[in-house]
Amino acid sequence: MAGRPARATTRDAEPGVQRCINVACASMYGLRERVYLCPRCGETLEIVCRPAAPGGSEGLRQQWMLRRALRVLSEDPREASGVWRYLELLPFEEDAPFVTLFEGNTPLLEAPRSAAYCGLTRLRLKHQGYNPTGSFKDTGMATALTQAVISGARTAVCASTGNTAASLAAYAARSGLQAAILLPRGQVSPSKLAQSLDYGALVLEIDGNFDACMRLVQELGDDPSIYIANSINPFRIEGQKTVAFELIEQCQWQVPDHIVVPGGNMGNSTALGKGFQELLDLRLLDRLPKLSVIQAEGAAPLARLFATLDFTKHTADELVPERLEPVENPQTLATAIKIGAPVSWKKALRAVLQSGGQIISVSEQEIADAKAMIGRDGIGCEPASATTVAGLKKLVAAGQIVRTDDVVAVLTGHALKDPDYMIRYHEGNLSVSSDGKGEPFAGAFRNSPKRVAATKAAILASLERER
Ligand code: F0G
Repeated sequence: MAGRPARATTRDAEPGVQRCINVACASMYGLRERVYLCPRCGETLEIVCRPAAPGGSEGLRQQWMLRRALRVLSEDPREASGVWRYLELLPFEEDAPFVTLFEGNTPLLEAPRSAAYCGLTRLRLKHQGYNPTGSFKDTGMATALTQAVISGARTAVCASTGNTAASLAAYAARSGLQAAILLPRGQVSPSKLAQSLDYGALVLEIDGNFDACMRLVQELGDDPSIYIANSINPFRIEGQKTVAFELIEQCQWQVPDHIVVPGGNMGNSTALGKGFQELLDLRLLDRLPKLSVIQAEGAAPLARLFATLDFTKHTADELVPERLEPVENPQTLATAIKIGAPVSWKKALRAVLQSGGQIISVSEQEIADAKAMIGRDGIGCEPASATTVAGLKKLVAAGQIVRTDDVVAVLTGHALKDPDYMIRYHEGNLSVSSDGKGEPFAGAFRNSPKRVAATKAAILASLERER
């Protein structure tokens, strides 16, 4: 490490605590205690980090910028990983057994066609699909599996619509733990299933939906050999919050007006909200970006709740109710977010309200067309990610976002996560019902393959026709 920036992670005490999010309870637990829900009141937990920044906030910012510049030269995860580079704000010691696949380091891409489609002058897309297993889950798995190793677990388990599974499978393989994955049978894209199989996970297919798998996983949590790697686990959120840090660096520390993310189990929105809030607490930001979450119409319990909130009468904290009415039988072709009872909804709702953002839903047609438009920018993403651009179009039309606002949408998964969806869209066979039996809808940007005679003249003629 000669010539490298001095590391500044020495802390006097444990680098944080786990705290119950219920303000009336607020019980605290040690970082190495294996708890997922508060044993006293049953609410979810969050980690409160003690930042290790002897050089103050500005010193920390300089350190991070230097490390980011050095990352391409380094094999040290504390420089090369887009998660471990931010160790000062993570609940781990300097000598932790860092699990890594050099996650993070994802691009922020200009998307002019998608911007025009939404009615914006400019739109940037933070593409988390560039992560090692092709989705945003990898940043959270780096921290979750590191914590699993520290805790002495033998098996890491998750419920998944596919991406969490693929990511857990890879990171468990890296760390030498068994991965056990509960999937809703027949409802996961084959590409994601293939990844989990290839990384050697034990794949358990359940006759039920994601929410049923999630309930089962929570029952398994009391076995000391088992570590839950879903985002109910606050260590997952810690890794995922680093996306906010990397993003703000890419924005040259200029806070965007809006950040837009898809919503499923609500870990991602929780994590982004937490990341930005921590930077604000350190006075590295002067305001929060407005965080908006977009759900698919058939799986939108939080958007439904949001629409009923009375903003005139209550403060942000008072607006979060005790219960969320789940969607019993969630339906969407964006299978990654086919979730009716999101576990992190309270944390996510709180983050959205504190930032002044929105939670809305979009239709299957809107998702599909937005996805094709992102493709036209040469970017591509999986269907769930495209809710962002579909949602932006609606928010601009409704006047919630202004044409000239600085907007970043987070794309969560790689286009090749669900090739079947793309083929069906472009061939005109995508139908609203997820069993494929409904009426196919006409994609606005359909681009089906053309059959052509095997001659140069025929090929040139078809080029001319399409120009
Ligand atoms: N986008 C993609 C591609 C996802 O895979 C998910 C969630 C989300 C968005 C929603 O994020 O749950 O944090 O609100 N996928 C989970 C899984 C549920 O099992 O892979 P969230």
